[in-house]
Amino acid sequence: MSGNAEEVTRRNAEAEGVAGRVELVTGDMRSLPVEDASFDLVVSSLAVHNIPDADGRDGAITEAYRVTAPGGRLLLADFRHAPRYADVLRGLGAQEVAVRDLGWRFWYGGPWFGTGMVTARKPG
Ligand SMILES: C[S@@+](CC[C@H](N)C(=O)[O-])C[C@H]1O[C@@H](n2cnc3c(N)ncnc32)[C@H](O)[C@@H]1O
Repeated sequence: MSGNAEEVTRRNAEAEGVAGRVELVTGDMRSLPVEDASFDLVVSSLAVHNIPDADGRDGAITEAYRVTAPGGRLLLADFRHAPRYADVLRGLGAQEVAVRDLGWRFWYGGPWFGTGMVTARKPG
């Protein structure tokens, strides 16, 4: 989508000087090819809304939570559905769940598509 490619991500990692600490894995966010509790921090930016159906988006949030380690954090930025992601995380038992508006710098084309940031923690 929009020309996103692994090579572009690799170049970004090199530009930031972190390529030696980055492993790129491609998969469907509704069924991540990684084990439970793999990451201390899970981030997503303007991605989950691309899943057209609500069940699929709920599944992606559930997967994000599954791969978060106990005590780990999630930061999920998206427009339209951020409050729903927060509800799903609360239902899964996440703590410190909050949604905040990221303001005009994160407008997706204009003020009609503001972006919300969902933050949460998995209990330790
Ligand atoms: C608008 S781009 C955002 C990319 C990046 N996070 C950013 O902020 O530049 C949305 C991305 O979601 C990816 N995507 C859409 N559906 C997906 C799915 N089911 N599983 C994994 N990635 C998906 C697309 O390939 C695309 O790279």
